[in-house]
Amino acid sequence: RATAPRISVIGSGYLGATHAAAMAELGFEVVAADPDAAKIAAFQAGVVPFYEPGLDELLARHLDSGRLRFTTDTADAVAAADIHFVCVGTPQRATSHAANLDYVEAAVAEVARSLTHDGVIVGKSTVPVGTAERMRELATALAPAGIDVELVWNPEFLREGKAVGDTLHPDRVVVGGASARAEALLRELYAGPISEGAAFVACDLPTAELVKVSANAFLATKISFINAIAEICTAAGADVRTLADAIGYDPRIGRAFLDAGLGFGGGCLPKDIRALMHRSGELGALQAVGLLQQVDEINMGQRQKVIDMTLQAAGGSVLNRRIGVLGAAFKPLTDDVRDSPALNVAAALHLRGAQVGVFDPAAGETGRRMFPTLSFVDGVAAAAQASDVLLVLTEWDDFSDADPAELAQVVHHRTVIDARNCLDRGAWEAAGWTVIGLGVGDAPHLPSSAPVFAVA
Ligand code: UDX
Repeated sequence: RATAPRISVIGSGYLGATHAAAMAELGFEVVAADPDAAKIAAFQAGVVPFYEPGLDELLARHLDSGRLRFTTDTADAVAAADIHFVCVGTPQRATSHAANLDYVEAAVAEVARSLTHDGVIVGKSTVPVGTAERMRELATALAPAGIDVELVWNPEFLREGKAVGDTLHPDRVVVGGASARAEALLRELYAGPISEGAAFVACDLPTAELVKVSANAFLATKISFINAIAEICTAAGADVRTLADAIGYDPRIGRAFLDAGLGFGGGCLPKDIRALMHRSGELGALQAVGLLQQVDEINMGQRQKVIDMTLQAAGGSVLNRRIGVLGAAFKPLTDDVRDSPALNVAAALHLRGAQVGVFDPAAGETGRRMFPTLSFVDGVAAAAQASDVLLVLTEWDDFSDADPAELAQVVHHRTVIDARNCLDRGAWEAAGWTVIGLGVGDAPHLPSSAPVFAVA
């Protein structure tokens, strides 16, 4: 090729905005589109309208370099590009576990209709297997006569909070359904990461779609596995953190995603495993349905467990008790509260009559918008103030770094439920706290499963 391919990115959420900025960083000319005028105005002004470390610098650099611009006009973006990334959301439907594909369909249709010259549509959104093939047919049907359109699937594995690093330095680039020409184009786009060692996996469309959801399902399974083991640890007086370290040394297992606690939330893992469960059912793959159902149930059970532990710690009821909640985001380093286990627990305690004060270093604003009835306060001490039980529900450093001796002065009762096992237990106990973890605790009276010495 004489000139580098130009890129459009349809959808400017976490995925799209990060992908657009990263592609500009890799040297390409990028136009990012989104119908949300307020969001686009923010990006144009150099402001990232959500919390994502490092994205603001990348955005500023490439608004300056002139390689990145934003528009509300998809047709304008499409006309200015050769490769069109579809990065719109696929949320869970309100009435079932299925993914809502309305945005993907609308985006593919709009790109195809707007093509002014040959192009490649690259789906990045997480979709149920079989969607890409339908989108390919849709694009082919809607592209103007005489214009050649190809559609491939290139799933994204970025984590919120680490989106910039994950996008610039992925472990692998998966491309499904590409012709030799499209594959060469994608290799050109990702030449930087590939030269750094990212694996390039070329496959068919359904494999590419399934790689993404299987990766998320596996991660979710690891978390629910360790939470199930944590339950045994609690019953047996074992320590799940040491156990996770010890099994994690085995490279076949690996230590990552073995932190027991309140479980997974966010905009991806929960809805992706449910969508996979739903799709597996449609396809008659019932073993996957059963497995994923268990993973989901264990995960949601962790939230109930922490609610029950709080009720117990408060003496059986939280009615009019003051509960301090540390954490609102579904994990640290984000202001995202979608399907947040922390807010789920906080809201449930509020419903049971507790006076709940929540503090989160980044998600106070988004939390307040989503749960206007909860009281959001400013700072760890303010959340802990006069509390009967203090809950740590998201493992921000601000919480593990907090001084337990200082907090001991402001609370009503020195009881903390460390639902992310992130506190230095010894230091908190030394400051007079009763620390209750998940899968970490004092040995209870262990019922024996059978008489040890059978009497004949
Ligand atoms: C996830 C996948 O990691 C990413 O590859 C995919 O592209 C999108 O979904 P993300 O939703 O950003 O990313 O969050 P992640 O860092 O995976 O954490 C998910 C949830 O699991 C969080 O609620 C976190 O608190 C929880 N978690 C994670 C645990 O409970 N224990 C662990 O050991 C790890």
